[in-house]
Amino acid sequence: MPLVTSKEMFKRAYANNYAIGAFNVNNMEIIQGIVDAAKEERSPLILQVSAGARKYANPVYLKKLVEAAIEDSNLPIVLHLDHGESFEVCKQCVDDGFTSVMIDASHYPLKENIAITRKVVEYAHAHGVVVEAELGRLAGIEDAVNVSEKDAAFTNPDEAQEFVEKTGVDSLAVAIGTSHGAYKFKGKPELDFERLQTINAKLDGTPLVLHGASTVLPEFVDLCNRNGGTIPDAQGVPEEMIRKAAEHGVCKVNIDTDLRLAMTAAIRQELNKNPDNFDPRKYLGPGREAIKNMVKHKITKVLGSSNLI
Ligand code: G3H
Ligand code: 13P
Ligand code: ZN
Repeated sequence: MPLVTSKEMFKRAYANNYAIGAFNVNNMEIIQGIVDAAKEERSPLILQVSAGARKYANPVYLKKLVEAAIEDSNLPIVLHLDHGESFEVCKQCVDDGFTSVMIDASHYPLKENIAITRKVVEYAHAHGVVVEAELGRLAGIEDAVNVSEKDAAFTNPDEAQEFVEKTGVDSLAVAIGTSHGAYKFKGKPELDFERLQTINAKLDGTPLVLHGASTVLPEFVDLCNRNGGTIPDAQGVPEEMIRKAAEHGVCKVNIDTDLRLAMTAAIRQELNKNPDNFDPRKYLGPGREAIKNMVKHKITKVLGSSNLI
């Protein structure tokens, strides 16, 4: 099976209120852990590559590893560029065989965001590739402390409608209260579901994307810390909120931090147990297994994307 785009995947996910996991990949063990989980759960899959991942692994290695994953698993897999920062980076990925790219021009004013996104859409669509864009700003823990700041940072539903109409984008990442990393909320976790519902109603079928969707389960922070880590208490998006978002048009859920925590906890635990071990396979193996277990958990308990193939 060749790489696929997310078009059909999202259509089915949207109609049936589940979401597809988009997992960030940086090396072979991470790819294998994710793909093994999706294979066992018979789930469609999005593997996404950030600029940092491309720099770390060299794009050609990641591309070949994903090709190997497809050959090994026979799963429908989307290869997606995460947070593409310019037309040029998106073009490079389209030319390299990615089937989906994100242009993240969300830090520009609306008009510029529309113009850059439109240019990416024209190029990508001419090559059979789908495009995700972002509108609004994913507030960090220090940002958006009061209502008017939140309103300025979060996705405006009317602008979202104009943005989708003018760009022809295939999916839209929305800002409704999530943020990247482990420290998402200062107090009680809260997402603006009213806003999500309004955006979903206005966009009428355009798949929505939730970035910063890791749950940051305390047991993984504990496990890291019990084995020598010093990660402060962190708070992610509760699982029931992800499930609820999938009922309101969110078809793609981005997860990176939870994979990092799971893998690091397992490696720390292994090295703590066997401090004399210097065979990387003996700690990367458990790291890969931890990724697999985390992705299985996401697919079965959070995203609802199992048994679809
Ligand atoms: O949203 C960002 C992803 O977590 C990727 O992180 O840029 O450190 O690879 P990265
Ligand atoms: P997390 O940091 O919550 O895992 O979000 C990842 C993400 O949005 C990648 O684009
Ligand atoms: Zn993101």
